[in-house]
Amino acid sequence: MRAAPAAGSGQVVVVRPAARLRGDLRLPGDKSISHRALMLALLAAGESRIEGAGDGADVRSTAAIAAALGARVERTPGEGRTVDYVVSSPGADGLREPPATLDCGNSGTSLRIFAGILAGLPMTGVLDGDASLRGRPVARIIEPLRRMGAVLHARRDDSLPPVTVVGHTPLRAVDVAMPVPSAQIKSAVLLAALRADGETTVREAVATRDHTERMLRARGIEVRSTAAEGQIVVSVRGGGSVTAVDERVPGDVSAAAFWLVVGAIHPDAELTLQGVGVNPTRRAAIDLLRAMGATIEERPIGTHAGEAGEPVADLTVRSSELRGIDLSPRDVAAAIDEIPVLCLAAAVASGPTRIRGAGELRHKESDRIAGIVAGLVALGARIDVEGDDLTIHGGATLSGATVDSLDDHRLAMTFAIAGLVARGDTTVGRPGSAGISYPGFFADLERIRA
Ligand code: S3P
Repeated sequence: MRAAPAAGSGQVVVVRPAARLRGDLRLPGDKSISHRALMLALLAAGESRIEGAGDGADVRSTAAIAAALGARVERTPGEGRTVDYVVSSPGADGLREPPATLDCGNSGTSLRIFAGILAGLPMTGVLDGDASLRGRPVARIIEPLRRMGAVLHARRDDSLPPVTVVGHTPLRAVDVAMPVPSAQIKSAVLLAALRADGETTVREAVATRDHTERMLRARGIEVRSTAAEGQIVVSVRGGGSVTAVDERVPGDVSAAAFWLVVGAIHPDAELTLQGVGVNPTRRAAIDLLRAMGATIEERPIGTHAGEAGEPVADLTVRSSELRGIDLSPRDVAAAIDEIPVLCLAAAVASGPTRIRGAGELRHKESDRIAGIVAGLVALGARIDVEGDDLTIHGGATLSGATVDSLDDHRLAMTFAIAGLVARGDTTVGRPGSAGISYPGFFADLERIRA
């Protein structure tokens, strides 16, 4: 790699192809679990310790908001690329009205879940973020929280951030069906439901990540979850207090997905990823890659004690011959953050991959359909887009090109790993966004060249 200033921080990074890939990586702590561990530590009276958290900019935004709401938040270096937190909080009833706008940066998870937390607190808070976040939809979160009695306002006819939440307690318990598959909306409603006057029920047509449910249970809250007639029904009763616990965060499976893809598509690769979270609602990328023919060995190392039963495994991926597969809208929801990098796998696999119902990708940190198609086509892939469906024709021989990440971390990392297998140099524009979820990504990318 020839990069401007420090790895990953310049306006472009040039990635050279790699002859061989070998290595053993410890990934950042899972981003979704790190956010929730900090948020739940804020709601719990007392001291919570969080070990192995992700240290990307998104998780730091959540930590800063927890501090602004009245918790003492101490962050110290942890193992590998992780950090440890000690959060001392007065608990939900002792939090203070934030004196200034709460800056969520690039983090949709912070903005949407904190909207649910603030909805049930007797205070006013304004949630804002960067230019990307200000373009992401919030009506989906405002609508169910309003039904619970919270007062929320947002820009552009209540559709875009900043979001002002005029909290109110107690809220009304509701029975809501998710308008789109979204763990952020589900989590916001479940956390608001803790401050509601009865049992709140959330109905999902497609299962989304269930970290909030597991983590609430581990903190003394009864959460009922049933799957029946193609619906997942999650219920929580208001009035309970979240207790302070110690949590160990597993490695981020969404970060692992980049190395799993490059390990599978590179002709001479063997990569091991230690301590990866393999929660059934998060592991779809592993299973989809296996369905494409990837050799991925999984060695369970148990369930970290005290961490809400998140299963963890070491993964080893080896060079594989991939073939195209069909992804349903359900697969898209299950692997929502990994679809960009799976598109890279599909581009070089033999035969076509069809991805149906990928519309939610347009509402992420960038329009990921536009971004992934522009980047992969520049690198030599053939992709057709029809509405929300993609056909990736497969069989591409990738050649280095200049591609733009659109300042989106998952696109920056996808194009950078494409550079390891492309012929010639690949120039990735705006690579610094990788630090949103994976600080040290470019150093790891260099470490695995063998
Ligand atoms: C997340 C849920 C997903 C995902 C995001 C993290 C979470 O978003 O894309 O990166 O931690 O709950 P949606 O809820 O919008 O699908």
